[in-house]
Amino acid sequence: MRDAPCILAIESSCDDTGVAVIRGRQVLSNVVAGQEVHEQFGGVVPELASRAHAQHIVPTVQQALKDAGVSPEELSAVAYTQGPGLMGSLHVGAAFAKSWAWANELPLVPVHHMHAHILAHYLAPGDAPSLPFLCLTVSGGHTQLVRVEGPREMEVLGSTLDDAAGEAFDKVAKLLGLPYPGGPILDRLSSDGDEHAFEFSHPKVAGLDMSFSGLKTQVLYFLQRSQAENPNFISERLADIAASVQRVIVEILMRKLEAAVSSTGIKEVAIAGGVSANRALRKALEHRQNEMGWKVHIPPMAYCTDNAAMIAMAGSLLFQSGVVGSISDAPDPRLPF
Ligand code: KG4
Ligand code: ZN
Repeated sequence: MRDAPCILAIESSCDDTGVAVIRGRQVLSNVVAGQEVHEQFGGVVPELASRAHAQHIVPTVQQALKDAGVSPEELSAVAYTQGPGLMGSLHVGAAFAKSWAWANELPLVPVHHMHAHILAHYLAPGDAPSLPFLCLTVSGGHTQLVRVEGPREMEVLGSTLDDAAGEAFDKVAKLLGLPYPGGPILDRLSSDGDEHAFEFSHPKVAGLDMSFSGLKTQVLYFLQRSQAENPNFISERLADIAASVQRVIVEILMRKLEAAVSSTGIKEVAIAGGVSANRALRKALEHRQNEMGWKVHIPPMAYCTDNAAMIAMAGSLLFQSGVVGSISDAPDPRLPF
């Protein structure tokens, strides 16, 4: 294992500063410095996010090296998130990674954030998926069905036409007066609710594409009608509303995933991204493993939401296949998939 590449990675695409060190598939450290400053604003404020990254980046790198017990001389390369994400946030991580790699005479590996969510499945201790596999990537900014043939060979089979699944959770939570990010809160509330209490309709979208913006509007009108009859409707039925909304989001995702399995014949299936932490989605996938003979890959909780271990894993796979970046690679908020 000593010969396996040892990678330090920096993730700063949104509001969390993540730094990790891995050797081979083993995570030696995975530090995430969160940013509570955004909660009061109901979403991430880009300027505040970049400022917080600038404050956190040096102590987070020091902590990750200390936790891993690794010195810079033992590293093989430095990986960082090149995009997509918020420009100011990406810039802090990329600029730091470049100067730190240069100072320590280490190669640089730029990584695509969504590829990294998918490649997190190669981190120990899980069984790495065998190729090709299908991955439903569901985060706050993306919702995609991806056919994965290799660390760089990925094809998007379908994606959301408007809001991402995480955005749907967050926007509904906001309508219910809950803080950002609302996804994990709706997940928790749902466990005390009746998922069949209220019916919301599915959007009609052809093929493997999806849509979530209509759901937010449906919930908005539903809440307005219900509150006109009972001003305490939200507080009295919060868990039932959360469970019913969660059910429809999970149903939309699972139907498209089932359609992707039938059209490709690939039964090796993974989920990735922040929303893959959702307990109902994880349960629905486990159910398909038993009922439909899929081989499913569900990431450990620590690798669902944004983290640098996934950037390190993607960086390691790319580095081993000969990819090395340069100081002139610019961070790209819309880095193409
Ligand atoms: O991947 P991620 O950490 O950041 C992006 O790249 O966007 O995903 C964040 C998203 C947020 O929308 C958050 O509400 C959602 O993932 N999320 C969840 C859960 N945990 C995080 N949504 C539903 N249930 C959860 N348990
Ligand atoms: Zn993400």
